[in-house]
Amino acid sequence: MRKVLVIHGPNLNLLGEREPNVYGSVTLAEIDKALQELAGKSDVELRTVQSNHEGEIVETIQNSRHWADVIIINPAAYTHTSVAIRDALSAISVPTIEVHLSNIHAREGFRQASHVSPVAVGVIAGFGKNSYLLALQAAATISLPDKKENKK
Ligand code: DQA
Repeated sequence: MRKVLVIHGPNLNLLGEREPNVYGSVTLAEIDKALQELAGKSDVELRTVQSNHEGEIVETIQNSRHWADVIIINPAAYTHTSVAIRDALSAISVPTIEVHLSNIHAREGFRQASHVSPVAVGVIAGFGKNSYLLALQAAATISLPDKKENKK
């Protein structure tokens, strides 16, 4: 069974009440529930975590390296600022999919650059809750590095 870790970055715990005109009315709990339902149908074991702290996200990434086959991450504001999160992802050989609820390329200039995209397998942005569900579909089907395919 493929193991997928979903990491939600800062302020995503406030989804539902935070700028609903940008991020919609869906809550993080609703996103996680939808992800768990899809994981159940896709032969995926799913863990989801949310953190407002950069170092904690770095440690979560490091600690997942022997467990996760794929990481899905919405680094939120750290997308645009964190070399540490990018370096953590590039330090481990776990394919990563970057996700955003909003289309960051259609927003303010400072949101249009991502430190994470160059170390990601792919990026999905602009589809709200469905960005995560599309990412999970990709995570369930992308080819994995040999080492991971052989993992028990
Ligand atoms: C976001 C986009 C980021 O620019 C922003 O800082 C977020 C959420 C998104 O999912 O659209 O917090 O990652």
